[in-house]
Amino acid sequence: MNHIILIGFMGAGKTSVGRRLAKVLHLDYVDTDDMIEEQQQMQISVIFAKHGEPYFRDLETDVLKQLQKADDRKVIAVGGGLPVREENRVLLRELGTVIYLKAEVDTLVGRLSGDTTRPKLQGGDLRERIVTLMQEREALYEEVAACEIRTDRKRLFEVVAEITEKVNGKQSL
Ligand code: S3P
Repeated sequence: MNHIILIGFMGAGKTSVGRRLAKVLHLDYVDTDDMIEEQQQMQISVIFAKHGEPYFRDLETDVLKQLQKADDRKVIAVGGGLPVREENRVLLRELGTVIYLKAEVDTLVGRLSGDTTRPKLQGGDLRERIVTLMQEREALYEEVAACEIRTDRKRLFEVVAEITEKVNGKQSL
C-alpha cells in the first residue's frame, strides 16, 4: 500500500499538514501518537512518566505493524522520534512514500515554546533541547525520506500543494 507518510521534528507541521493533505486527496488521516493514546487510553506524557520512553518506542513499532495491515491508502503522520529506530525506518519505507517536513530551529522554538505535552522538551532550555535532538535525528530523517519539504514561513496550503505536486508525479521524488 503506497501510503503518504509525514516525518519530521516536533512542531514541523506534520499534524496540520497531514490533516489538510488527507482532505485534499480524499484519503483517511492517521497519526501514530493518536493511535497510541487511544489504544493505551493514556496521554503520551503519562505513558512516558509511568512506563518510560523505551516502552513508548515499542508502542510506536507496534502501530507501524498494525498500519501494514491497512487496506486503504492513508496519510500517516508519525511522532518526531519514531524514525530514530532502524526497525521503524525499514517499516516506514515499506509503508509508502516518506516525506520529511523540515523546519529551522528558530521556527521550531517559536512553535514549541510553552508546550507542556511533549516529554522530550520539558525542563532546561528549549532551544538547546531542540538543537541536541535535531543533531541526533536529522541524518536519520534524511536517510528514510524520499523527499523533504521546508515548512518555514509558508502557509499551510503552500506546503500541501508542494506535496500533492510531488505525489502526483509532477516532480520526481
Ligand atoms: C516525540 C514526538 C511527539 C510524540 C512524543 C515524542 C519525539 O510527536 O511522539 O512526545 O520524541 O520527538 P510529535 O512529533 O507529533 O510532536
